[in-house]
Amino acid sequence: MQNIEKQKFLWGSATAAYQCEGAWDADGKGLGEWDVFSHGNPLNINGATGDVSCDFYHHYEEDIDMLKAGGQNTYRFSISWARILPNGRGAVNQGGIDFYNRVIDYCLKQGVEPNVTLFHYDLPEAIAKEGGWENRAIVDAFAEYARVCFTAFGDRVKLWVTINEPKYYAYCSHMVGNYPPNHRHDFNRYFTTVYHEAVASAKAVAIYHSLKLNGSIGIVHDSSNVEVAPDTKEKERVHMIADLFYNRIILDTACKGEFPGALIPLLRKYGIDTSYIKFEDMLVFLQGKVDFLGLNVYNRFYITDYSAGETEVFHNNKGAGSSAKEGIRIRDWYETAIDPNTKRNLWGREIYPKCMYNTLMEIKERYGDIPVYITENGHGCYEKPNDEGYVEDDERIEMMQGYIDYMLKAMEDGCNVRGYYAWSTMDLYSWVNGYEKRYGLVRVDFDDHNRRYPKKSYYWFKKLIEDYRKAEEEYAFEFYMNAVILVLKKNM
Ligand code: BG6
Repeated sequence: MQNIEKQKFLWGSATAAYQCEGAWDADGKGLGEWDVFSHGNPLNINGATGDVSCDFYHHYEEDIDMLKAGGQNTYRFSISWARILPNGRGAVNQGGIDFYNRVIDYCLKQGVEPNVTLFHYDLPEAIAKEGGWENRAIVDAFAEYARVCFTAFGDRVKLWVTINEPKYYAYCSHMVGNYPPNHRHDFNRYFTTVYHEAVASAKAVAIYHSLKLNGSIGIVHDSSNVEVAPDTKEKERVHMIADLFYNRIILDTACKGEFPGALIPLLRKYGIDTSYIKFEDMLVFLQGKVDFLGLNVYNRFYITDYSAGETEVFHNNKGAGSSAKEGIRIRDWYETAIDPNTKRNLWGREIYPKCMYNTLMEIKERYGDIPVYITENGHGCYEKPNDEGYVEDDERIEMMQGYIDYMLKAMEDGCNVRGYYAWSTMDLYSWVNGYEKRYGLVRVDFDDHNRRYPKKSYYWFKKLIEDYRKAEEEYAFEFYMNAVILVLKKNM
């Protein structure tokens, strides 16, 4: 299992520490920003916390067993920074190291490749108090944390991710305001955060490479390929700005080691602070190019010309309790367009499977043959189990099948995709959406000792993996036979 390069296509599923572990104050863990936010901040509108969640901390063997029984050969999870460094830096918590050693060792014992993310939204409170990602000091703190993890687990973990969705995280924290530290429409904070995440990620990549641990490291981007509505007047301008805002700031720095130059004049023109951009960081980007790209694929970014009104983001954390459609209007830049031909989920997010294909083709065109993992793809919905606790989630199956078909088509068309992770392994805490919005392949009964029940989608995914493996073997056999025939013919 240790040599990813020689490995077959990876099929698995994903979770994140704060969303599934629970055990929020166990075994020396420090306080996280989400612990503080979820305990009483009025903006935590559904009132749920990750204190216990599905209690992966005590159920990890059961979850990994289930995953393996479902034919999955990889598991993506994240490490809680505050579990490893309770104060964000300095003293290491052995309790945290022991926990992740147990998880990693159990994965390997079961033939499941661990894919480990260092940061998935859950900042230690000690770092948050210093200004979090807005404060340049976080770059060194993150580098220290990354080094501790690489040193402790790098002998066994061969797939690393620095940061999960730097852009979406900054967007929620500083534009939507639904994630801590809950700022709204704050471009200065948004760009400062994204920039520091990009620098911190590049530094961690460079450290990983310097340690020569014989694995690979990437970043996970929430892929929002920009598509412009057909009746848009300023198509090129709108596309260029949105692409810088959403994608290039992360992808160019991570994949090319270059900060997108066009961004600086754009920010200055609109009075957005750029003082945090340092000349010496350009070298950091160059030295911190990723080995692969992780893409969380949910939707595209469909836009048109700005019409009128102040900058505003539209977000729905109430599900069926609200009719808000997810979107944005940025004064003088662009605004979300509504495609009358696509469906939306109950949280107002567009369902558009073809964005999988379009994103992958765009990545190939821009960044060449870089290996890509689909690190998340899934469907959030309300669910009702039958009397046996079984959930028939046909809607999820239909949706995910659509995205996977487009992924396979992109692979046929030359995209270098190495793996696919369903979001999520089991039901878990969906941030501000709480527990009502479910994503798991496995149902968790949060009211009955967190009992696990595989859903219909779990069995569908298992069968899909089996069929894929069969095709892989047949192809390998055919390839081998053709090679034999060729050699025989040559020698005749
Ligand atoms: C991804 C995140 O953006 O989407 C996950 O990496 C998250 O952490 C998932 O849970 C679903 O998002 P939401 O907002 O529907 O819970």
